[in-house]
Amino acid sequence: MPPKKTAGGGGTTTGDANLKQKSPAEFFQDNKGIAGFENAGKSLYTTLREFIENALDAAEHIGVLPQVDVLVEEVTLTQYETMIGLDAHVRKDDTLYDDFETEKAKAKRLEKEAKVEMQQEKGGAKGKKGGGRGGNASNAKGEEKKSYFKITVKDNGKGMEHNDIPNMLGRVLSGTKYGVRQTRGKFGLGSKMALIWSKQTTGLPIRVRSAQPGQNFVSEYVLDIDIEKNAPNVHKEEKKPNTTKWHGAELSVTIEGNWTSHRQYVLAYLRQLAIVTPYAALGFRYISSHAAGSAAARNQDIQLHFARRAEVMPPLPRATKYHPSAAKENQLLVKELLSNTREKTLSGFFNKEFTCINREHANRLARELGGGFSASMHPKNVSDKQGARIQQLLASARFSDPSGECLSPAGEYNLRLGVMKELGPDWIASYASPALACGGHPLIVEACVSLGGRDVKPGFNVFRFANRIPLLFEGGADVATRCVQRLNWTTYKIDKNNDKIGVFVSIVSTKIPFKGTSKEYIGDENAEIAEAVDKAIKQCASQLRGKIVRAQALKDRRARKKALTKYVPDCCNAIFAMLASAADADTLPNERAESYDEKEMLWPVDVEWEKEATQKARTREITAEILQKRLEECVEKIDNEEALEFSMQQNKDGLKQDVFLNPFSSLAHEYEPELRPGNSGIAFRLLKKARLIA
Ligand SMILES: Nc1ncnc2c1ncn2[C@@H]1O[C@H](COP(=O)(O)OP(=O)(O)O)[C@@H](O)[C@H]1O
Ligand SMILES: [Mg+2]
Repeated sequence: MPPKKTAGGGGTTTGDANLKQKSPAEFFQDNKGIAGFENAGKSLYTTLREFIENALDAAEHIGVLPQVDVLVEEVTLTQYETMIGLDAHVRKDDTLYDDFETEKAKAKRLEKEAKVEMQQEKGGAKGKKGGGRGGNASNAKGEEKKSYFKITVKDNGKGMEHNDIPNMLGRVLSGTKYGVRQTRGKFGLGSKMALIWSKQTTGLPIRVRSAQPGQNFVSEYVLDIDIEKNAPNVHKEEKKPNTTKWHGAELSVTIEGNWTSHRQYVLAYLRQLAIVTPYAALGFRYISSHAAGSAAARNQDIQLHFARRAEVMPPLPRATKYHPSAAKENQLLVKELLSNTREKTLSGFFNKEFTCINREHANRLARELGGGFSASMHPKNVSDKQGARIQQLLASARFSDPSGECLSPAGEYNLRLGVMKELGPDWIASYASPALACGGHPLIVEACVSLGGRDVKPGFNVFRFANRIPLLFEGGADVATRCVQRLNWTTYKIDKNNDKIGVFVSIVSTKIPFKGTSKEYIGDENAEIAEAVDKAIKQCASQLRGKIVRAQALKDRRARKKALTKYVPDCCNAIFAMLASAADADTLPNERAESYDEKEMLWPVDVEWEKEATQKARTREITAEILQKRLEECVEKIDNEEALEFSMQQNKDGLKQDVFLNPFSSLAHEYEPELRPGNSGIAFRLLKKARLIA
């Protein structure tokens, strides 16, 4: 650790000798856990995640369908020693070393590791805790042996301006995503944390290649970070000819990691990412350090390709302005906006610096401020005290909810597609909320709830996404899980213990209120978000209840129809036998009844009908088969009438089923006129420029 600077700079003042300042880089080096770098396995996962998310942001920013290629190469100790310039040393006396173990101890360890791995395979992939430390090779004392990995992520995005690269990647809290805009990155931290971790664990710098669209050279940098100064330290800088007209970035770091313990998380992350980013092509390769082609290498190496399933990107998120309710959360906001505004009048300031305030509303607000204010006053002339009054008014006034137009939600179509792919459920329901203001930021919640499916465990299977990032950790504390647990599922005819319930919740916002900086979960404390998530899940559950009720009614009807149909032949044979014997008799049944009981008839008789029926039985115009056919038709007719009546009760518009379509363009939906083919009772409307998905 370098000595810390003292406040007085060694002068004559007699300040507290303990007073020190820390650079942001030092702070994050000391508190890596809050950024998702708490141990080797998690750091490997987070490094991949940060690089991949930067890659997606970079491609989406210029409206290019992302192509992201990820390579994880295991680096042996010897390779690592060569990388850091040490001569490889062949051990002479193995027992001298910390990682020495006897054959017996080794066999025992391997057995234990295999067991842990099996447990992980069972539980790790579907967003649950993997459990245990994983099976990273450990030494005789049970401590994990260090493993090193070279991680390279290449994209086809916007690249970085040559001279900006050192600051972008070598200075903590620097980035281009700070505005009020929906992006995956936000803090200007992710890639620098990977670099700090690499510096701490392997001492190796980051290697960067980058080209902006249309640029005739490729920037190549090797750099690391001066942690004390929080400044980039460039080892090598070059411009090479861009012969292939490539644009994008390729970042590579060598870090300590634990593949065994976090492999399942990495793979689950990629799979879920492919679900919410179907317009991206993702390639992933893991190469173990075993000799290429060996059986061990074949077992461990992984190559995955998540193909692009949609050619249409959701509309790009747009930068927006603050919603006035942001003044509630941030006491300094009004002051900051007043000092930066280009507006010349107070009403112009309200109108231009915030969303949801039109000119007239702005004038009304200016009048409401009272004495000392006027709509035409210059924002620069607003005193601190007056600023506080404005802040107070904005915090207590009522404003309409912000529009979600600046956001780019995953879309019900993509979520449904994802659920179908991931769980293959029997039933599925989805809902997208209107935008709401959360701490002055627009926020949209989308949810899907599914029932049944292959390989799905009974109970809840919760999948969470924030700004289209899959969240895999801290599931128990997340608002989505809490809402799922709070809901009374029996109301929706769903058995929370035995039904296989899939819940997907995706939240997008210009500012996701993550707990901590490592973007792992969204807390349950924010009442507005909890309410919106709760509502979205309830909406889905109630759609499912409708389907369950319909299915139950259908089942009951089928059972009744089956029972009725079963007795049709017996009934018809019996009826026909009676009819036939009546036809064979000398007198008609009603005449026999008369003579039998002195004109007191047992039942009202249509004499003409009786005559006709017996006559037809005699001439074989009525047979048991004809009766049977008629009765079967009758059962069928009643069944259809009941089905129609039931569906009309359930749904006033008649039978309607949502079909999800993928529009060719990302524009707002427009519909073709309603189509009613023939007299089939079917009516549908197609989206303009839409196609049905398989
Ligand atoms: N693959 C990339 N392509 C283009 N620009 C990138 C890439 N990776 C990082 N950057 C730039 O570097 C900045 C810092 O990245 P990072 O440290 O991950 O913080 P954040 O993503 O939160 O802004 C980003 O804001 C972006 O401008
Ligand atoms: Mg980032």
